[in-house]
Amino acid sequence: MSEIASLSLDGKTYELPVVVGSENEKAIDIQNLRAQTEFITLDSGYKNSGATSSKITFLDGEAGILRYRGYPIEQLAEKSSFIEVAYLLIFGNLPSKIELENFANAITRHTLIHEDMKRFYEAYPAKAHPMGVVASITCSLSTFYPDSLNANPKKEAVELTITRMLAKFSTIAAWAYKNSVGHPGIYPRNSYNYVENFLYMMFAMPTEDYEIDPVIVNALDKLLILHADHEQNCSTSTVRMVGSSQANLYASISAGICALWGPLHGGANQAVIEMLEQIRDDGGNVAKFVNKAKDKNDPFRLMGFGHRVYKNFDPRASIIKVACDQMLNKLGVKDPLLDIAKQLEEAALNDEYFVERKLYPNVDFYSGIIYKAMGIPTEMFTVMFALGRLPGWIAQWKEMIENKEPIARPRQVYTGATKRNYINIADR
Ligand code: CMC
Repeated sequence: MSEIASLSLDGKTYELPVVVGSENEKAIDIQNLRAQTEFITLDSGYKNSGATSSKITFLDGEAGILRYRGYPIEQLAEKSSFIEVAYLLIFGNLPSKIELENFANAITRHTLIHEDMKRFYEAYPAKAHPMGVVASITCSLSTFYPDSLNANPKKEAVELTITRMLAKFSTIAAWAYKNSVGHPGIYPRNSYNYVENFLYMMFAMPTEDYEIDPVIVNALDKLLILHADHEQNCSTSTVRMVGSSQANLYASISAGICALWGPLHGGANQAVIEMLEQIRDDGGNVAKFVNKAKDKNDPFRLMGFGHRVYKNFDPRASIIKVACDQMLNKLGVKDPLLDIAKQLEEAALNDEYFVERKLYPNVDFYSGIIYKAMGIPTEMFTVMFALGRLPGWIAQWKEMIENKEPIARPRQVYTGATKRNYINIADR
């Protein structure tokens, strides 16, 4: 293959370098395009634009492949743990036994949040959406750790900020839930591992003993692994973009949490359950809702269907679907929403509209059903996504800093009014 692309413009030919990735992904390097031609490229929603080169996650949407640092997601979901995957994503390789122990211990020792932060929770209205709470409290970490504001910190300082971020986020998230139901925040316990500790802080009560259910721990660990990174998606690109201005890690992650919140991204898991409940409450007529989703005059979309990148199947959805069945069986939970979800999936997968547009269930289609069976309330689902995505955001922020990437600053094609003179208000 030629390593140069040719572009003809106004009768002139320009040569643009071609970049080929390690999995043979091809890109035309347009970094000097404007300087050479005065043209920019236009790509609303960045559907065809690579914003960076990255060594973290490989995703082939046509073949349904997802790998973190080269390791297939199927193997990681089966054999690894969320904390090991976090290490892999952030530091680039699987840890040795001692590296993993040190990493896990460091996270365990930093799970407490500053006592003054408790007052923030008290100030939120009872109905505050937990995504708003966790985004703002995450950003507030920067006020408690001003050393994180240093734009050129030493390696050890960056690693401490990363450890604090990973450790404290599970406490921040669990306390957002406790606060929303008016219960006292439960302090972390160092004898538990990361996932156990999160469940403990979510569901333990100071008045009762709490028993960790290994079935739930396993299912949650798997779910977090499946969400841990997904290359340059909306929230990750946001983290990299905010970080590119040399804003600190806490501010960058907080921005990523806000980007994840929307129903077209991480908010889809909440929207899926709300949609399934809507179908149930409406009498369970699945075909009616499939038709609504196809009707271009109706804003209704099948939440949990479709993906910007996956156009055959979402490998995460395939793993989750099996895990969901297994967990519900083990827990003996019968959820009528699962039946509606299965009917919906079948109806959509056999419908020409969805087949033609390559719309398949994505990771969020089944994750909400699992969270629901675990007793996690619907409004917390997107927070669970954020908990899982955190190592990916951190890894991408770290890579962006280490690569000394320039500040992200897209251009535009201006289509507004051309120059016009100001008119005094009396003359308008
Ligand atoms: N229901 C009905 N029609 C759909 C849907 C859907 N869920 N998704 C896409 N379409 C149609 C869309 O109307 C368009 O049709 P046409 O070509 O006739 O105009 C076509 O499919 C292409 O859609 P698009 O909106 O141009 O595709 P996109 O790549 O911009 O959007 C998406 C991807 C995920 C935002 C979209 O599929 C969607 O809104 N899905 C529902 C929300 C959802 O489940 N989001 C979670 C994504 S997975 C978690 C994550 O990683 O964020």
